[in-house]
Amino acid sequence: MLKSQYISQIDVIIDIMKIQIITLFPDMFPGVLQASMLWKAQDKGIVSYEFINLRDFGLGPRHQVDDTPYGGGDGMLLKPEPIIAAIEQAKARDPEATVILPTPRGETYKQSDAKHLAADNRGLIIVCPRYEGYDERITKWVDSSYRIGNYVLTGGELPAMVIIDSVVRLLPGVLGGENSAAIESFQDDDLNIEFPQYTRPEDFRGLKVPDVLLSGNHAEIAKWRQQKSR
Ligand code: ADE
Repeated sequence: MLKSQYISQIDVIIDIMKIQIITLFPDMFPGVLQASMLWKAQDKGIVSYEFINLRDFGLGPRHQVDDTPYGGGDGMLLKPEPIIAAIEQAKARDPEATVILPTPRGETYKQSDAKHLAADNRGLIIVCPRYEGYDERITKWVDSSYRIGNYVLTGGELPAMVIIDSVVRLLPGVLGGENSAAIESFQDDDLNIEFPQYTRPEDFRGLKVPDVLLSGNHAEIAKWRQQKSR
């Protein structure tokens, strides 16, 4: 279907949410962003994904982006100058955008954060750190730092994809079912884990669909689902 046909199906004209990703590894993203809902959201004109290669802002002939830590220690840290220059370029394109830094030292990322980012409908600038870390001074240019879980990954690219996925699916017009984003699990960050669901066949290798779901009794089904939600 043509992009213009998609757009005509959306009742309101929606501003495109610009998502700018600052990374040394833009090649990590296409597989995720060009599939399923994330791709459709772009195709429908709801979001745009743009990559800013941090290496382009590296210093000197070798485009240096990292350096050794003051005070000693293992590994290299991302220098502030290239990152801030990249953020400034992204901000020049989208001055109102929220700057996000995925880091194990951030606040735990929650469904309510995804909801706020989606509801704000401001652009996002996601800075993906690599190596052993970054110069702390870059946080002065960052609005929110998030940890996506209590484990350490090799960089911010996977957390950036998690954040993008969780926000984009909540944007108006992305999910097919009107209510699917609203009624699902983790609605309010509590442990409201969704009820179990079943589809055909009724009997799979002796594992049967609960009778109540076949009963057609909507009140009983609603009660059962309520009980099964944790
Ligand atoms: N970078 C490395 N590990 C991370 C995590 N768990 N969350 C966010 N950013 C990270």
